[in-house]
Amino acid sequence: MCTEHRRRSSSARRASVATSGSSAVALVLLAACNGTSSYMDATGTAGRHEATLGWWLTAAASAVVLFVCVAIVLGIMRHRNDPHRGDEGVMERKEVKSGLTWIYVGVAVTVVILAISFAGTMVTLNAASQPRITPLLTLDVTGHQWWWEVTYSQANDPSLGFTTANEVHLPVGEPVRVRLHSADVIHSFWLPQISGKMDVIPGQVNETWLEARQAGESRGTCGEYCGMQHAVMALNVTAESPEAFKRWADERRAGAAPVTSPEASAGRVVFARTCGACHAVTGTNALGQVGPDLTHVASRPMIGAGALTNTPEHLARWIRNAPGVKEGVRMPPLPLTDAELHDVITYIQTLH
Ligand code: CUA
Repeated sequence: MCTEHRRRSSSARRASVATSGSSAVALVLLAACNGTSSYMDATGTAGRHEATLGWWLTAAASAVVLFVCVAIVLGIMRHRNDPHRGDEGVMERKEVKSGLTWIYVGVAVTVVILAISFAGTMVTLNAASQPRITPLLTLDVTGHQWWWEVTYSQANDPSLGFTTANEVHLPVGEPVRVRLHSADVIHSFWLPQISGKMDVIPGQVNETWLEARQAGESRGTCGEYCGMQHAVMALNVTAESPEAFKRWADERRAGAAPVTSPEASAGRVVFARTCGACHAVTGTNALGQVGPDLTHVASRPMIGAGALTNTPEHLARWIRNAPGVKEGVRMPPLPLTDAELHDVITYIQTLH
């Protein structure tokens, strides 16, 4: 109806629709500023430093724009009733001296503002460059087209490693070291609320660190265009108390939950045969390394790196025809019978 209405409208009407359309977009964007993926709601150490700097720079830039606008308006008003208006020779002789003074003042003010901004930026970069204590926990994050592989390891206990996908849990108040790897093209690892972006480059390991200062959920994303599904390369970020983090990590280190029902048991056989070449489930015959590790997939809120919420209906859609949901995805459509699909989903739901 909206389309038809617009087609019939006059061009003036179209302009008005376009304006209100862009206002709506602007409103949505502004509303999104309060969302959980906004860097302005920073809850990480580096993120807070960067957000503070951002506000100061915005305030300084706004003050400069305001000052310039006021100066222009005052300058115009000052000569409105000048008797020599229009007599260019007289104006030039009269104004050249005071004009020069204002240029010196303008240059001095600009230099001071730039120097303060530069100093603020340096202080912020320094504060965000390294954590106050050496992190014990390390995250090796690998960017794939289009999902994230996340491997946890701990310097003081090498046996405590585990791998998950498209999710990051952070213990509040503890800095975490992050090493970034790419399996294919350039990506950029970005948890907007926690810290700034860092490029993920093939053949190179970039390092950064994260520290959450406040418990809560947020959304991480890929910050560098990396192909068709760049926008659907999300991470669920959970900042939680060190105790809750330890419980989560202990659960992740454990293998898959035992299967009790006959349906889930049948599903596990189908899974190992159909999915096991690409996906791994610790403690089973599924050992694939191509796609995300699914040992605890049922506990993740999303599937397909943010493509769909994790419900049985969405799992069915995804397994039947993943490219139909996320075009270009490496996972092929799987020709399972209804019974096989039902059993596989029953099995996947046991993978907490
Ligand atoms: Cu990965 Cu954009």
